[in-house]
Amino acid sequence: MTILGIETSCDETGAAIVDNGTIILSNIVSSSQNLHIKSGGIIPEVASREQIRYLIPVVEKALKNCQLKIENIDSIAVTIGPGLVGSLLIGVESAKTLAYLFQKPIIPVNHLLAHLYANWASCAPAPSFPAIALIVSGGHTDLLLMENHAQFRWLGGTRDDAAGEAFDKTARLLNLAYPGGPAIAAAAEKQEKLGKTTEIRLPRPMIGEDNFDFSFSGLKTAVLREVNGLKTKEQFNDLTRFALAHEIQEAITDVLVKKTIRAAENFQVKTIILGGGVAANKRLRQKFTSHNSQFAIHLPSLYLCTDNAATIASYAYFNNRPRPWFKIEASPQLFLKPRTF
Ligand code: KG4
Ligand code: ZN
Repeated sequence: MTILGIETSCDETGAAIVDNGTIILSNIVSSSQNLHIKSGGIIPEVASREQIRYLIPVVEKALKNCQLKIENIDSIAVTIGPGLVGSLLIGVESAKTLAYLFQKPIIPVNHLLAHLYANWASCAPAPSFPAIALIVSGGHTDLLLMENHAQFRWLGGTRDDAAGEAFDKTARLLNLAYPGGPAIAAAAEKQEKLGKTTEIRLPRPMIGEDNFDFSFSGLKTAVLREVNGLKTKEQFNDLTRFALAHEIQEAITDVLVKKTIRAAENFQVKTIILGGGVAANKRLRQKFTSHNSQFAIHLPSLYLCTDNAATIASYAYFNNRPRPWFKIEASPQLFLKPRTF
């Protein structure tokens, strides 16, 4: 089964063709990130305008790269949420138009769950169930117990900032570039190379609590306090910034690993899977793989961690539930946490 995936939830425009959920025939991503670097963060209006510019060329290129025509596609999969409403609308309305014109089934996809399918899309050994899934993206941090493709239980998530957001916001405090994750990781690596130890200690929020929730906003405040202290002492320089970046990365990854392993132990699963942009973090990956655990740890290929449409098409293959095109709508608030109201 050949699926065309379309992803436009934020600042990436993606189209991919995937066979049977596992064989990526093409995977094209255009990003408006360069425009957001200038502003230090995403401006939704700018992101959605760029989605309009990129979408058709990206879909055409994805088809051309594997010498297929839209007529050869079996189904269309599209991200319906969560994400920025303006960006989502471009992908959703375009996918609906294609489905109507070419009479193709259309499968709505939750972007967060799709991140996990980076573990299936890359042809690597498929994760077995039950699994604990950690989703760590720019706007979301969630822990799930996955019984199978169709059934999952939300165990916990962030009460405030997401892990990616914590990287992005603390990077800003250190005058590092956007997106903050790769910038913090690079600065932390410089600190490693210098081989210096530091006295800076940051909190590991909620690490010891007997639940599966996270909180990263206090970490941001602690970093701000450190930065202000260093500035008053006129010690805010490259060396202290590298040291702080190192400790930020240690703090965030310590909490993510500890809570995920605890969930895996608690529910006696066989497997741990990761998904989302922060799953590209080398230190996080190292901590998971070096943890002497009884679990099979699945880390997605680096190029599939951040937003792309191959994960969307893969998710749709394993969760093949088409809907009539006229019933599909962009859902910016499509979170995983069950609603309590
Ligand atoms: O999943 P993603 O591409 O987009 C969303 O759905 O949000 O995640 C983007 C997030 C950003 O916060 C970015 O700073 C973070 O992933 N990120 C990283 C790394 N690469 C991207 N965080 C830590 N280390 C990285 N290497
Ligand atoms: Zn994402």
